[in-house]
Amino acid sequence: MHDPQALRKIVILGGGTAGWMAALPLAQRLRRGGAAPVIELVESAEIGTIGVGEATLPPIRFFNASLGLDNAEFIRRTQASFKLGIEFADWGKVGESFFHGFGDHGPPIDTRSSYAYWLRLRHEGAIGALADWSVPTEMARQGRFTPPLEGPPSAANAYAYAFHFDAGLYAAYLREHALAAGVVRTEGQVVEVERRPGDGFVSALRLADGRRVEGDLFIDCSGFRALLIEGVMQAGFEDWSHWLPCDRALAVPSGRMAQLPPFTRSAATPAGWTWRIPLQHRTGNGHVYCSRFMDDDEAARLLLAGLPTPATDVPRPIRFTAGRRRRCWVGNVVAVGLSSGFLEPLESTSIQLILDAVGRLLMLLPDRSFEPHLAAEFNRLMARQYESIRDFIILHYTLSRRDDQPFWRELRTMPLPDTLAHQIALFRDSGRVAVLDPDGFAEPSWVAIMNGMGVLPRRHDPLTHGIDAAALRGHFARLREAIVGTVRTMPSHDAFLAALAA
Ligand code: FDA
Repeated sequence: MHDPQALRKIVILGGGTAGWMAALPLAQRLRRGGAAPVIELVESAEIGTIGVGEATLPPIRFFNASLGLDNAEFIRRTQASFKLGIEFADWGKVGESFFHGFGDHGPPIDTRSSYAYWLRLRHEGAIGALADWSVPTEMARQGRFTPPLEGPPSAANAYAYAFHFDAGLYAAYLREHALAAGVVRTEGQVVEVERRPGDGFVSALRLADGRRVEGDLFIDCSGFRALLIEGVMQAGFEDWSHWLPCDRALAVPSGRMAQLPPFTRSAATPAGWTWRIPLQHRTGNGHVYCSRFMDDDEAARLLLAGLPTPATDVPRPIRFTAGRRRRCWVGNVVAVGLSSGFLEPLESTSIQLILDAVGRLLMLLPDRSFEPHLAAEFNRLMARQYESIRDFIILHYTLSRRDDQPFWRELRTMPLPDTLAHQIALFRDSGRVAVLDPDGFAEPSWVAIMNGMGVLPRRHDPLTHGIDAAALRGHFARLREAIVGTVRTMPSHDAFLAALAA
Protein backbone atom coordinates (compact mmCIF):
# COMPACT_ATOMS: atom_id res chain seq x y z
CA MET A 1 0.00 0.00 0.00
CA HIS A 2 1.29 3.45 -0.80
CA ASP A 3 2.40 5.41 2.26
CA PRO A 4 1.29 9.04 1.81
CA GLN A 5 4.05 10.18 4.17
CA ALA A 6 6.86 8.30 2.39
CA LEU A 7 9.94 10.25 1.31
CA ARG A 8 9.62 11.27 -2.33
CA LYS A 9 13.10 12.60 -2.86
CA ILE A 10 16.47 12.40 -1.11
CA VAL A 11 19.16 14.89 -2.05
CA ILE A 12 22.82 14.20 -1.29
CA LEU A 13 25.04 17.26 -1.39
CA GLY A 14 28.62 16.21 -2.20
CA GLY A 15 30.28 13.54 -4.30
CA GLY A 16 33.35 12.69 -2.22
CA THR A 17 33.83 9.34 -0.51
CA ALA A 18 30.95 10.15 1.86
CA GLY A 19 28.48 11.16 -0.84
CA TRP A 20 28.91 8.01 -2.92
CA MET A 21 29.17 5.75 0.15
CA ALA A 22 25.74 7.11 1.10
CA ALA A 23 24.18 7.08 -2.37
CA LEU A 24 24.71 3.45 -3.31
CA PRO A 25 23.42 1.70 -0.16
CA LEU A 26 20.46 4.10 0.03
CA ALA A 27 19.51 3.38 -3.57
CA GLN A 28 19.82 -0.39 -3.11
CA ARG A 29 18.22 -0.72 0.33
CA LEU A 30 15.33 1.63 -0.27
CA ARG A 31 14.35 -0.18 -3.41
CA ARG A 32 14.51 -3.54 -1.58
CA GLY A 33 12.41 -2.06 1.23
CA GLY A 34 9.67 -1.07 -1.17
CA ALA A 35 10.34 2.65 -0.86
CA ALA A 36 11.79 4.18 -3.96
CA PRO A 37 12.26 7.90 -3.61
CA VAL A 38 14.34 9.63 -6.24
CA ILE A 39 17.93 10.01 -5.04
CA GLU A 40 19.82 12.93 -6.51
CA LEU A 41 23.46 13.68 -5.77
CA VAL A 42 24.84 17.16 -6.41
CA GLU A 43 28.58 17.57 -6.74
CA SER A 44 30.93 20.20 -8.05
CA ALA A 45 34.04 19.28 -10.03
CA GLU A 46 35.21 22.85 -9.59
CA ILE A 47 35.22 22.55 -5.80
CA GLY A 48 36.56 18.97 -5.91
CA THR A 49 37.00 16.55 -3.02
CA ILE A 50 39.43 16.40 -0.13
CA GLY A 51 41.34 13.70 -2.03
CA VAL A 52 42.82 11.82 0.95
CA GLY A 53 41.62 8.90 3.06
CA GLU A 54 43.23 5.65 2.10
CA ALA A 55 43.31 3.36 5.14
CA THR A 56 40.27 1.61 6.56
CA LEU A 57 39.05 -0.71 9.32
CA PRO A 58 37.77 -4.31 8.87
CA PRO A 59 34.01 -3.48 8.62
CA ILE A 60 34.67 -1.94 5.18
CA ARG A 61 34.67 -5.55 3.92
CA PHE A 62 31.12 -6.13 5.15
CA PHE A 63 30.06 -2.77 3.73
CA ASN A 64 31.43 -3.75 0.30
CA ALA A 65 29.85 -7.19 0.55
CA SER A 66 26.47 -5.70 1.47
CA LEU A 67 26.65 -3.67 -1.74
CA GLY A 68 27.33 -6.80 -3.77
CA LEU A 69 30.76 -5.58 -4.88
CA ASP A 70 33.08 -8.24 -6.24
CA ASN A 71 36.16 -8.35 -4.01
CA ALA A 72 38.75 -9.01 -6.72
CA GLU A 73 37.27 -6.32 -8.95
CA PHE A 74 37.17 -3.85 -6.05
CA ILE A 75 40.85 -4.52 -5.29
CA ARG A 76 41.82 -4.05 -8.94
CA ARG A 77 39.72 -0.95 -9.49
CA THR A 78 40.89 0.85 -6.34
CA GLN A 79 44.55 -0.33 -6.48
CA ALA A 80 43.99 -1.73 -3.00
CA SER A 81 46.34 -3.61 -0.72
CA PHE A 82 45.58 -5.51 2.49
CA LYS A 83 45.85 -4.01 5.95
CA LEU A 84 46.42 -6.10 9.09
CA GLY A 85 46.88 -3.15 11.42
CA ILE A 86 49.16 -0.19 12.12
CA GLU A 87 52.80 -0.06 13.09
CA PHE A 88 53.49 2.79 15.52
CA ALA A 89 57.12 3.93 15.51
CA ASP A 90 58.66 6.39 17.99
CA TRP A 91 55.35 6.91 19.81
CA GLY A 92 56.18 5.48 23.24
CA LYS A 93 59.81 6.61 22.99
CA VAL A 94 62.12 7.42 20.09
CA GLY A 95 63.45 4.10 18.76
CA GLU A 96 60.57 1.98 20.10
CA SER A 97 57.77 0.56 17.98
CA PHE A 98 54.70 -1.61 18.41
CA PHE A 99 51.87 -3.00 16.31
CA HIS A 100 48.12 -2.53 16.67
CA GLY A 101 46.82 -5.58 14.81
CA PHE A 102 43.27 -6.50 13.93
CA GLY A 103 42.88 -9.43 16.28
CA ASP A 104 43.18 -10.66 19.84
CA HIS A 105 46.28 -12.01 21.60
CA GLY A 106 45.10 -15.61 21.59
CA PRO A 107 41.67 -17.18 22.18
CA PRO A 108 39.85 -16.54 25.49
CA ILE A 109 40.24 -19.09 28.28
CA ASP A 110 37.21 -19.83 30.49
CA THR A 111 35.49 -16.47 29.70
CA ARG A 112 38.70 -14.50 30.42
CA SER A 113 40.80 -12.89 27.71
CA SER A 114 44.13 -14.40 26.79
CA TYR A 115 45.64 -11.08 27.89
CA ALA A 116 44.33 -11.62 31.45
CA TYR A 117 46.30 -14.91 31.67
CA TRP A 118 49.36 -13.42 29.99
CA LEU A 119 49.27 -10.64 32.60
CA ARG A 120 49.12 -13.16 35.45
CA LEU A 121 52.18 -14.96 34.08
CA ARG A 122 53.94 -11.63 33.56
CA HIS A 123 53.32 -10.79 37.24
CA GLU A 124 54.64 -14.21 38.26
CA GLY A 125 57.86 -13.99 36.25
CA ALA A 126 59.12 -13.83 32.69
CA ILE A 127 56.98 -14.43 29.64
CA GLY A 128 57.47 -13.37 26.01
CA ALA A 129 56.16 -10.05 24.67
CA LEU A 130 52.36 -9.94 24.36
CA ALA A 131 52.67 -9.21 20.62
CA ASP A 132 54.09 -12.74 20.16
CA TRP A 133 50.54 -14.05 20.52
CA SER A 134 49.00 -11.70 17.96
CA VAL A 135 48.60 -13.46 14.60
CA PRO A 136 48.35 -10.22 12.53
CA THR A 137 51.52 -8.93 14.22
CA GLU A 138 53.41 -12.07 13.21
CA MET A 139 51.99 -11.81 9.66
CA ALA A 140 53.08 -8.17 9.48
CA ARG A 141 56.58 -9.07 10.75
CA GLN A 142 56.91 -11.69 8.01
CA GLY A 143 55.16 -9.54 5.33
CA ARG A 144 52.59 -12.24 4.64
CA PHE A 145 48.89 -12.19 3.86
CA THR A 146 46.04 -14.57 3.24
CA PRO A 147 42.43 -14.18 4.39
CA PRO A 148 41.50 -16.02 7.61
CA LEU A 149 40.10 -19.53 7.20
CA GLU A 150 36.53 -20.23 8.19
CA GLY A 151 36.02 -22.63 11.10
CA PRO A 152 36.68 -22.93 14.84
CA PRO A 153 39.14 -20.42 16.36
CA SER A 154 42.78 -21.31 15.67
CA ALA A 155 46.08 -19.65 14.86
CA ALA A 156 44.99 -19.76 11.23
CA ASN A 157 42.02 -17.45 11.64
CA ALA A 158 42.57 -15.29 14.74
CA TYR A 159 42.70 -12.04 12.83
CA ALA A 160 40.71 -9.65 10.69
CA TYR A 161 41.82 -7.39 7.90
CA ALA A 162 40.92 -4.19 6.09
CA PHE A 163 42.16 -2.42 2.98
CA HIS A 164 44.32 0.44 1.88
CA PHE A 165 42.81 1.93 -1.27
CA ASP A 166 42.83 4.99 -3.47
CA ALA A 167 39.81 6.88 -2.11
CA GLY A 168 39.29 8.79 -5.39
CA LEU A 169 39.12 5.51 -7.31
CA TYR A 170 36.83 4.04 -4.67
CA ALA A 171 34.38 6.97 -4.96
CA ALA A 172 34.43 6.65 -8.77
CA TYR A 173 33.81 2.90 -8.50
CA LEU A 174 30.85 3.39 -6.15
CA ARG A 175 29.53 6.16 -8.38
CA GLU A 176 29.42 3.78 -11.33
CA HIS A 177 27.32 1.31 -9.31
CA ALA A 178 25.13 4.07 -7.86
CA LEU A 179 24.31 5.48 -11.30
CA ALA A 180 23.45 1.96 -12.44
CA ALA A 181 21.18 1.66 -9.38
CA GLY A 182 19.26 4.75 -10.49
CA VAL A 183 20.93 7.58 -8.55
CA VAL A 184 20.68 10.86 -10.47
CA ARG A 185 23.91 12.86 -10.60
CA THR A 186 23.84 16.62 -10.98
CA GLU A 187 26.97 18.63 -11.60
CA GLY A 188 26.80 22.14 -10.20
CA GLN A 189 27.71 24.45 -7.39
CA VAL A 190 25.21 25.15 -4.64
CA VAL A 191 25.10 28.90 -4.00
CA GLU A 192 21.89 29.25 -2.01
CA VAL A 193 19.66 27.12 0.17
CA GLU A 194 15.89 27.56 0.41
CA ARG A 195 14.05 26.80 3.66
CA ARG A 196 10.44 26.18 4.49
CA PRO A 197 8.75 28.91 6.46
CA GLY A 198 7.70 27.71 9.92
CA ASP A 199 9.93 24.73 10.71
CA GLY A 200 12.99 25.96 8.78
CA PHE A 201 13.46 22.61 7.02
CA VAL A 202 15.58 22.78 3.87
CA SER A 203 13.32 22.66 0.83
CA ALA A 204 15.68 23.17 -2.13
CA LEU A 205 19.27 23.83 -3.16
CA ARG A 206 19.84 26.55 -5.71
CA LEU A 207 22.73 26.05 -8.13
CA ALA A 208 24.96 28.72 -9.65
CA ASP A 209 23.26 28.37 -13.04
CA GLY A 210 19.83 28.96 -11.51
CA ARG A 211 18.62 25.33 -11.34
CA ARG A 212 16.72 24.27 -8.21
CA VAL A 213 17.06 20.84 -6.60
CA GLU A 214 14.10 20.12 -4.32
CA GLY A 215 13.95 17.33 -1.75
CA ASP A 216 12.38 15.94 1.43
CA LEU A 217 15.57 14.67 3.10
CA PHE A 218 18.98 16.30 2.58
CA ILE A 219 22.21 14.44 3.31
CA ASP A 220 25.06 16.85 3.82
CA CYS A 221 28.24 15.30 2.40
CA SER A 222 29.79 18.66 1.56
CA GLY A 223 32.98 17.90 3.49
CA PHE A 224 34.65 20.43 5.80
CA ARG A 225 32.36 23.12 4.35
CA ALA A 226 29.38 21.55 6.20
CA LEU A 227 27.19 23.71 3.99
CA LEU A 228 23.80 22.50 5.22
CA ILE A 229 24.33 21.09 8.71
CA GLU A 230 26.30 24.11 9.94
CA GLY A 231 25.89 26.78 7.27
CA VAL A 232 22.10 26.50 7.31
CA MET A 233 20.97 24.43 10.32
CA GLN A 234 23.69 25.73 12.68
CA ALA A 235 24.10 22.41 14.46
CA GLY A 236 27.10 23.70 16.43
CA PHE A 237 30.63 22.32 16.66
CA GLU A 238 32.20 20.80 19.75
CA ASP A 239 35.82 21.83 19.46
CA TRP A 240 38.28 19.21 20.82
CA SER A 241 41.49 20.93 19.78
CA HIS A 242 42.50 21.34 23.45
CA TRP A 243 42.82 17.52 23.49
CA LEU A 244 43.88 16.97 19.91
CA PRO A 245 45.87 20.08 18.95
CA CYS A 246 47.18 18.84 15.57
CA ASP A 247 45.54 21.16 13.06
CA ARG A 248 47.39 20.71 9.76
CA ALA A 249 48.36 17.99 7.37
CA LEU A 250 50.52 17.69 4.28
CA ALA A 251 49.73 14.85 1.88
CA VAL A 252 52.07 13.66 -0.86
CA PRO A 253 52.08 10.59 -3.10
CA SER A 254 55.29 8.76 -3.88
CA GLY A 255 56.19 5.83 -6.12
CA ARG A 256 55.12 2.26 -5.47
CA MET A 257 57.14 0.41 -2.83
CA ALA A 258 59.12 -2.57 -4.12
CA GLN A 259 57.45 -4.80 -1.52
CA LEU A 260 54.06 -3.82 -0.14
CA PRO A 261 53.84 -4.19 3.64
CA PRO A 262 50.38 -5.45 4.70
CA PHE A 263 49.99 -2.61 7.20
CA THR A 264 49.90 1.16 7.65
CA ARG A 265 52.90 2.83 9.26
CA SER A 266 52.62 5.78 11.60
CA ALA A 267 55.84 7.39 12.85
CA ALA A 268 55.79 10.08 15.53
CA THR A 269 57.63 13.33 14.70
CA PRO A 270 58.65 16.24 16.95
CA ALA A 271 55.14 17.76 16.72
CA GLY A 272 52.85 15.16 15.16
CA TRP A 273 53.19 12.01 13.10
CA THR A 274 53.54 10.77 9.53
CA TRP A 275 51.53 8.10 7.71
CA ARG A 276 52.66 5.67 5.05
CA ILE A 277 50.02 3.73 3.13
CA PRO A 278 51.16 1.18 0.53
CA LEU A 279 48.93 0.98 -2.56
CA GLN A 280 49.50 -1.03 -5.72
CA HIS A 281 50.19 1.96 -7.96
CA ARG A 282 51.71 4.40 -5.46
CA THR A 283 52.37 5.09 -1.79
CA GLY A 284 50.19 7.52 0.15
CA ASN A 285 52.21 9.64 2.59
CA GLY A 286 51.37 12.48 4.89
CA HIS A 287 52.34 14.45 7.97
CA VAL A 288 49.79 15.50 10.59
CA TYR A 289 51.21 18.20 12.85
CA CYS A 290 50.46 20.99 15.28
CA SER A 291 51.09 24.47 13.88
CA ARG A 292 51.81 25.86 17.36
CA PHE A 293 54.90 23.65 17.55
CA MET A 294 56.03 23.21 13.94
CA ASP A 295 56.00 25.44 10.87
CA ASP A 296 54.89 24.25 7.43
CA ASP A 297 58.40 24.22 5.94
CA GLU A 298 59.77 22.02 8.69
CA ALA A 299 56.74 19.72 8.40
CA ALA A 300 57.31 19.38 4.64
CA ARG A 301 61.04 18.82 5.11
CA LEU A 302 60.48 15.98 7.60
CA LEU A 303 57.78 14.42 5.43
CA LEU A 304 59.87 14.44 2.26
CA ALA A 305 62.99 13.21 4.10
CA GLY A 306 61.12 10.12 5.32
CA LEU A 307 59.50 9.00 2.05
CA PRO A 308 60.09 5.36 1.12
CA THR A 309 60.15 6.18 -2.63
CA PRO A 310 60.60 9.45 -4.60
CA ALA A 311 57.70 11.92 -4.39
CA THR A 312 55.56 12.15 -7.52
CA ASP A 313 53.94 15.48 -6.63
CA VAL A 314 54.40 18.37 -4.23
CA PRO A 315 52.94 18.17 -0.71
CA ARG A 316 49.35 19.42 -0.54
CA PRO A 317 48.34 21.35 2.60
CA ILE A 318 45.10 20.65 4.52
CA ARG A 319 43.84 22.48 7.61
CA PHE A 320 41.38 21.13 10.17
CA THR A 321 40.05 21.42 13.71
CA ALA A 322 39.40 18.30 15.76
CA GLY A 323 35.84 17.97 16.98
CA ARG A 324 32.34 16.91 16.13
CA ARG A 325 29.06 18.46 15.13
CA ARG A 326 26.90 18.82 18.26
CA ARG A 327 24.01 17.34 16.30
CA CYS A 328 24.62 15.39 13.10
CA TRP A 329 20.90 15.33 12.26
CA VAL A 330 18.89 18.56 12.49
CA GLY A 331 15.40 18.84 11.00
CA ASN A 332 15.60 17.20 7.57
CA VAL A 333 19.41 17.48 7.24
CA VAL A 334 21.76 14.61 8.14
CA ALA A 335 25.53 15.12 8.05
CA VAL A 336 27.69 12.23 6.83
CA GLY A 337 31.47 12.37 6.40
CA LEU A 338 33.69 15.35 7.14
CA SER A 339 30.64 17.62 7.51
CA SER A 340 29.82 15.67 10.73
CA GLY A 341 33.22 16.25 12.34
CA PHE A 342 36.87 15.30 12.11
CA LEU A 343 39.38 13.33 14.12
CA GLU A 344 42.93 12.99 12.85
CA PRO A 345 43.36 9.83 10.77
CA LEU A 346 45.66 8.07 13.28
CA GLU A 347 43.42 4.99 13.52
CA SER A 348 41.73 5.30 10.09
CA THR A 349 38.31 6.07 11.54
CA SER A 350 36.72 8.61 9.13
CA ILE A 351 35.55 6.14 6.49
CA GLN A 352 34.33 3.92 9.33
CA LEU A 353 32.30 6.86 10.67
CA ILE A 354 30.78 7.27 7.21
CA LEU A 355 29.67 3.68 6.86
CA ASP A 356 28.29 3.62 10.40
CA ALA A 357 26.38 6.86 9.80
CA VAL A 358 24.88 5.46 6.60
CA GLY A 359 23.91 2.23 8.40
CA ARG A 360 22.27 4.21 11.20
CA LEU A 361 20.41 6.43 8.76
CA LEU A 362 19.00 3.34 7.07
CA MET A 363 18.00 1.89 10.47
CA LEU A 364 16.34 5.15 11.49
CA LEU A 365 15.04 6.25 8.09
CA PRO A 366 12.27 8.81 8.62
CA ASP A 367 9.18 9.48 6.58
CA ARG A 368 8.07 13.02 5.87
CA SER A 369 6.77 13.50 9.43
CA PHE A 370 10.44 13.48 10.59
CA GLU A 371 9.58 12.08 14.00
CA PRO A 372 12.16 13.86 16.25
CA HIS A 373 13.14 10.79 18.28
CA LEU A 374 14.76 9.33 15.15
CA ALA A 375 17.12 12.30 14.95
CA ALA A 376 17.74 12.15 18.71
CA GLU A 377 18.74 8.48 18.49
CA PHE A 378 21.00 9.08 15.49
CA ASN A 379 22.67 11.95 17.33
CA ARG A 380 23.13 9.88 20.49
CA LEU A 381 24.85 7.07 18.57
CA MET A 382 27.07 9.43 16.57
CA ALA A 383 28.10 11.35 19.71
CA ARG A 384 29.03 8.13 21.51
CA GLN A 385 31.08 6.91 18.57
CA TYR A 386 32.90 10.21 18.08
CA GLU A 387 33.71 10.43 21.79
CA SER A 388 35.05 6.91 22.07
CA ILE A 389 37.25 7.37 18.99
CA ARG A 390 38.43 10.70 20.40
CA ASP A 391 39.46 8.95 23.63
CA PHE A 392 41.21 6.16 21.72
CA ILE A 393 43.24 8.65 19.70
CA ILE A 394 44.16 10.78 22.72
CA LEU A 395 45.34 7.55 24.41
CA HIS A 396 48.24 7.34 21.92
CA TYR A 397 49.47 10.78 22.92
CA THR A 398 48.85 10.75 26.63
CA LEU A 399 50.68 7.45 27.22
CA SER A 400 53.79 8.57 25.38
CA ARG A 401 56.93 8.70 27.51
CA ARG A 402 58.62 11.12 25.15
CA ASP A 403 59.97 14.20 26.85
CA ASP A 404 62.34 15.28 24.09
CA GLN A 405 59.96 17.87 22.62
CA PRO A 406 57.63 20.55 24.04
CA PHE A 407 54.74 19.14 21.95
CA TRP A 408 55.04 15.71 23.57
CA ARG A 409 55.55 17.16 27.05
CA GLU A 410 52.34 19.17 26.65
CA LEU A 411 50.31 16.22 25.37
CA ARG A 412 51.60 13.83 28.02
CA THR A 413 50.50 16.05 30.83
CA MET A 414 47.27 17.61 29.60
CA PRO A 415 44.00 17.00 31.49
CA LEU A 416 41.97 14.18 29.90
CA PRO A 417 38.28 13.65 29.17
CA ASP A 418 36.72 11.93 32.22
CA THR A 419 35.88 8.82 30.19
CA LEU A 420 39.50 8.35 29.14
CA ALA A 421 40.92 9.15 32.59
CA HIS A 422 38.64 6.40 33.95
CA GLN A 423 39.71 3.96 31.21
CA ILE A 424 43.42 4.47 31.91
CA ALA A 425 43.01 4.31 35.69
CA LEU A 426 40.96 1.11 35.40
CA PHE A 427 43.57 -0.49 33.17
CA ARG A 428 46.57 0.60 35.23
CA ASP A 429 44.97 -0.81 38.39
CA SER A 430 43.49 -4.03 37.09
CA GLY A 431 44.23 -4.74 33.42
CA ARG A 432 40.50 -4.41 32.72
CA VAL A 433 39.02 -2.34 29.87
CA ALA A 434 35.79 -0.31 30.01
CA VAL A 435 33.39 -0.58 27.07
CA LEU A 436 33.03 3.04 25.97
CA ASP A 437 31.19 2.17 22.74
CA PRO A 438 29.94 -1.38 22.09
CA ASP A 439 30.33 -0.75 18.34
CA GLY A 440 33.79 0.83 18.63
CA PHE A 441 37.36 -0.33 19.31
CA ALA A 442 37.17 -3.50 21.39
CA GLU A 443 39.32 -4.67 24.30
CA PRO A 444 42.20 -6.12 22.18
CA SER A 445 42.74 -2.70 20.57
CA TRP A 446 42.88 -0.84 23.89
CA VAL A 447 45.22 -3.53 25.25
CA ALA A 448 47.47 -3.31 22.17
CA ILE A 449 47.97 0.44 22.62
CA MET A 450 48.33 0.37 26.43
CA ASN A 451 50.78 -2.55 26.27
CA GLY A 452 52.61 -1.14 23.26
CA MET A 453 53.12 2.11 25.17
CA GLY A 454 54.61 0.19 28.09
CA VAL A 455 51.71 0.18 30.58
CA LEU A 456 51.88 -2.82 32.89
CA PRO A 457 48.80 -3.01 35.16
CA ARG A 458 49.43 -3.33 38.91
CA ARG A 459 47.10 -6.30 39.44
CA HIS A 460 45.60 -9.03 37.33
CA ASP A 461 42.20 -10.69 37.14
CA PRO A 462 41.74 -12.89 40.26
CA LEU A 463 39.75 -15.43 38.22
CA THR A 464 42.83 -16.46 36.21
CA HIS A 465 44.21 -18.73 38.98
CA GLY A 466 42.19 -21.83 38.11
CA ILE A 467 45.02 -23.13 35.90
CA ASP A 468 48.48 -23.87 37.29
CA ALA A 469 51.36 -21.82 36.02
CA ALA A 470 53.20 -24.68 34.27
CA ALA A 471 50.09 -25.70 32.31
CA LEU A 472 49.49 -22.09 31.36
CA ARG A 473 53.07 -21.62 30.19
CA GLY A 474 52.71 -24.79 28.10
CA HIS A 475 49.54 -23.38 26.55
CA PHE A 476 51.24 -20.12 25.58
CA ALA A 477 54.33 -21.94 24.24
CA ARG A 478 52.20 -24.22 22.03
CA LEU A 479 50.14 -21.29 20.82
CA ARG A 480 53.26 -19.33 19.88
CA GLU A 481 54.61 -22.31 17.97
CA ALA A 482 51.31 -22.73 16.11
CA ILE A 483 51.25 -19.02 15.18
CA VAL A 484 54.81 -18.96 13.84
CA GLY A 485 54.31 -22.25 11.98
CA THR A 486 50.99 -21.23 10.44
CA VAL A 487 52.17 -17.79 9.37
CA ARG A 488 55.27 -19.30 7.77
CA THR A 489 53.03 -21.25 5.37
CA MET A 490 51.15 -18.14 4.21
CA PRO A 491 52.03 -16.43 0.91
CA SER A 492 53.76 -13.09 0.94
CA HIS A 493 51.44 -10.08 0.65
CA ASP A 494 52.87 -9.36 -2.82
CA ALA A 495 52.38 -12.94 -4.00
CA PHE A 496 48.81 -12.94 -2.73
CA LEU A 497 48.03 -9.67 -4.55
CA ALA A 498 49.68 -10.94 -7.74
CA ALA A 499 47.63 -14.16 -7.63
CA LEU A 500 44.46 -12.12 -7.16
CA ALA A 501 45.30 -9.93 -10.16
CA ALA A 502 45.98 -13.00 -12.30
P1 FDA B 1 34.98 15.68 0.44
O1 FDA B 1 35.61 16.99 0.75
O2 FDA B 1 35.84 14.63 -0.15
O3 FDA B 1 33.73 15.87 -0.49
C1 FDA B 1 32.91 17.02 -0.42
C2 FDA B 1 32.02 17.07 -1.64
O4 FDA B 1 31.09 18.15 -1.50
C3 FDA B 1 32.75 17.29 -2.95
O5 FDA B 1 32.18 16.49 -3.97
C4 FDA B 1 32.50 18.76 -3.26
O6 FDA B 1 32.56 19.03 -4.62
C5 FDA B 1 31.09 18.89 -2.71
N1 FDA B 1 30.72 20.26 -2.41
C6 FDA B 1 31.15 21.06 -1.41
N2 FDA B 1 30.58 22.28 -1.48
C7 FDA B 1 29.75 22.24 -2.55
C8 FDA B 1 28.88 23.18 -3.18
N3 FDA B 1 28.76 24.42 -2.72
N4 FDA B 1 28.19 22.80 -4.27
C9 FDA B 1 28.31 21.55 -4.78
N5 FDA B 1 29.11 20.62 -4.23
C10 FDA B 1 29.83 20.97 -3.14
N6 FDA B 1 39.79 8.64 6.44
C11 FDA B 1 40.02 7.32 6.57
O7 FDA B 1 39.09 6.56 6.83
N7 FDA B 1 41.29 6.85 6.43
C12 FDA B 1 42.35 7.65 6.20
O8 FDA B 1 43.47 7.17 6.04
C13 FDA B 1 42.12 9.05 6.12
N8 FDA B 1 43.14 9.93 5.94
C14 FDA B 1 42.89 11.28 5.98
C15 FDA B 1 43.95 12.20 5.97
C16 FDA B 1 43.67 13.58 6.07
C17 FDA B 1 44.80 14.55 6.11
C18 FDA B 1 42.34 14.03 6.12
C19 FDA B 1 42.03 15.49 6.19
C20 FDA B 1 41.31 13.12 6.11
C21 FDA B 1 41.57 11.75 6.05
N9 FDA B 1 40.54 10.85 6.10
C22 FDA B 1 40.80 9.51 6.22
C23 FDA B 1 39.14 11.30 6.03
C24 FDA B 1 38.59 11.07 4.62
O9 FDA B 1 39.36 11.77 3.69
C25 FDA B 1 37.15 11.55 4.54
O10 FDA B 1 36.42 11.01 5.60
C26 FDA B 1 36.52 11.11 3.27
O11 FDA B 1 37.30 11.45 2.17
C27 FDA B 1 35.16 11.74 3.11
O12 FDA B 1 35.21 13.05 2.74
P2 FDA B 1 33.85 13.78 2.37
O13 FDA B 1 33.21 13.02 1.27
O14 FDA B 1 33.08 13.99 3.63
O15 FDA B 1 34.32 15.21 1.87
